[in-house]
Amino acid sequence: MGFLTARRERAADEREADALWWSWRQACEGAGLCHQVDTVSGATVVVPQLVDIVLGPPTILTVKLLPGQLLSDLRRVALRIAPHLGAVALRVTPLGQIHARVELLATDPLDVRVDLDLPARPGQVFIGRDETAHDVVQSWADVAHTIVQGVTRSGKSVWTYGLLAQLAADPLVTVCGSDPTGLLWRPFAGTRHAALQVSGVDDPGAHEVLLQALVDDMDARIAAMPADRDTVAITTDQPLRVVVLEELAALYRVADSVSTTKDPVGKRIRSLVGRLLAEGAKAGYRVVIIVQRAEAAIVGSFERAMCSLRISFRTDTRASAELLHPGAPGELADQHTTARPGIALMSAPGEELIRFRGPYLRGYP
Ligand SMILES: Nc1ncnc2c1ncn2[C@@H]1O[C@H](COP(=O)(O)OP(=O)(O)O)[C@@H](O)[C@H]1O
Ligand SMILES: [Mg+2]
Repeated sequence: MGFLTARRERAADEREADALWWSWRQACEGAGLCHQVDTVSGATVVVPQLVDIVLGPPTILTVKLLPGQLLSDLRRVALRIAPHLGAVALRVTPLGQIHARVELLATDPLDVRVDLDLPARPGQVFIGRDETAHDVVQSWADVAHTIVQGVTRSGKSVWTYGLLAQLAADPLVTVCGSDPTGLLWRPFAGTRHAALQVSGVDDPGAHEVLLQALVDDMDARIAAMPADRDTVAITTDQPLRVVVLEELAALYRVADSVSTTKDPVGKRIRSLVGRLLAEGAKAGYRVVIIVQRAEAAIVGSFERAMCSLRISFRTDTRASAELLHPGAPGELADQHTTARPGIALMSAPGEELIRFRGPYLRGYP
């Protein structure tokens, strides 16, 4: 490389770095990621300091947070800052206690295919991959119940297939539940799981019989629980029962359509589901509710509160996302109304809201 070319390139890099430095400042100020300080010459705005810039791609900024700021404060406004730095998204990861590494992403980090590796890790389920390319894994013992929402064709069923494929081979788990769509239980025909699975909408009574059998078993487990324990021991004889309620609103709809005042099957089904949610966790029951929208008419605030793991695939409005993720940044909830299939938001106990891509299991049956 000639001497002049090298010098020109260096000058261009310096201009680019200066431009980034300036845009960073402006964007942080605009997004409110700043402090106002009074100086002798008047009020000045300070923003997190850019201590290093490595030009890419990928361009990586090292940022020193301001006193009192957390990494999560930066993450919350990342979507507001990114376009002003010429990026579609920022990947923000911690560097020590008060610095952050900010990678400028030219494409959505979730624009990837995530495959499912089987067999699964025992006792754990792979939920998906997050924006920092880390695996999101949940220990089944740590979650109570789960609720999954999303408009039609947003990826709820595919995610559920992935979940069940991981659980099916675990001798400490039985996979059971109710599926009005008639697809979920097909691969389970002839397995030990099939006895507690009901499909289709022809006979709403069959779903009630199943739920009643599960509640009876739950009651028996609780009654037999030794006085010095507050949860049942999970063994192959007394496995964890993962109860999937696929398209729960559809089940309620058919049950209500055949309900009469004398025979209120819809009401009874709702109350059985309520009991599994309220008392099931300690008895080794894990309910997974799947609905298009977690609205109050289908999952009341009591049911919602029992679900510690909350997942939203694409929602129709910002308000729908907020049903399961109260306090989610508005721009994130807005952006989620156009999420591609398989991309979801997740809230879990004691963890920040994250965005992830669920695994895509080809050929579920
Ligand atoms: N994790 C994913 N990655 C890529 N594509 C997906 C993923 N999940 C779903 N899809 C696509 O979206 C379509 C609809 O998904 P599905 O789970 O049936 O939606 P829902 O149950 O919400 O109606 C699937 O057929 C598939 O093409
Ligand atoms: Mg579906």
